[in-house]
Amino acid sequence: MNKNRLLLGLVLLLTAVLVLSACGEKEQKDNSAEGNQNAESGVVNLYTSRHYDSDNELFATFTEQTGIKVNVVQGDSDELIERLNREGEATEADLFFTADAGRLFRAKEAGLLQSVESTTISNNIPENLRDADNQWFGLTKRARVMVYAKDRVDESELSTYEALTDDKWQGKVLIRSSENIYNQSLLASFIELNGADAAKEWANGIVENMARKPQGGDRDQAKGIAAGEGDIAVINTYYFGKMLHSEDPEEVKVAEGLSLFFPNQETTGTHVNVSGLGVTKHAKNKDNAIKLIEFLSSEEAQARFAEANYEYPVNPNAEVSDLLKSWGKFKEQDINLTKLGENNAEAVMIFNEVGWK
Ligand SMILES: [Fe+2]
Repeated sequence: MNKNRLLLGLVLLLTAVLVLSACGEKEQKDNSAEGNQNAESGVVNLYTSRHYDSDNELFATFTEQTGIKVNVVQGDSDELIERLNREGEATEADLFFTADAGRLFRAKEAGLLQSVESTTISNNIPENLRDADNQWFGLTKRARVMVYAKDRVDESELSTYEALTDDKWQGKVLIRSSENIYNQSLLASFIELNGADAAKEWANGIVENMARKPQGGDRDQAKGIAAGEGDIAVINTYYFGKMLHSEDPEEVKVAEGLSLFFPNQETTGTHVNVSGLGVTKHAKNKDNAIKLIEFLSSEEAQARFAEANYEYPVNPNAEVSDLLKSWGKFKEQDINLTKLGENNAEAVMIFNEVGWK
């Protein structure tokens, strides 16, 4: 009898547990369904290598206007690509945002992005600054320019990237490692515009004129000028802006000793690149992701978005910041940035062949 009671008790307990856990499961399922629904109506998840307060302010404005919350995961570009790869279908990321068309191309090639259609985006962002299949979109633009020592170089001595290979500049040119994507994209643009042979000749000529073995980032090249190691450096425009407004007085001093020059104005134009973003292959909130791109590429958002990093807006109707205005208008290379990715492997090969470290 006692044994039977115990058995009955156990059976009841087991039933209760099963019913409860089934309910729990159902409840969980309901929750997640609701969560997804909320997700589609209420959130968008962004993996980004940017880290600016003004970005968060813009996201807040977007949320006010649309009710869609923006969740931000910050990280190093390559680590985020790695993470997207690892997470696969399970990823929570709806958007991936990083610098350089070459890197965006890599994300596309790795199958991490998807094509999206939006007339608003197409109207806001010029065709050459977005992927040919609309898998990524440039949102901020930078130029890869020269800065030179005001006291040792006269502007009239400067003309083109190609002219930096003249004997005149032997031991005077500062430029970072070829492992860096910015230089890979620069050479990729020359392959596109002038052909592989000319690009190789250029790379070889620069190696011959280097002031030192490549080391450090773009800012370190500018600092090399101040240290007297060389007279001309190739850097991205926003680094010059950052140094001029740096909290480090040394950087400000370095920048104040330099002038900026836009090369190839009479020929093929100055090399430009973008930071940009794409909707992830496994985005759960695709519509919201598209809405965020539409917002960030709008005239209203573009000026502030670009200014945060001393960059140029991609939307031609957006206002350029005062500092960038002071640098003047310039002629840009006329190529689709997709080519920077397509020519990347060849660029890397050329760098290896000419011994650009
Ligand atoms: Fe950078």
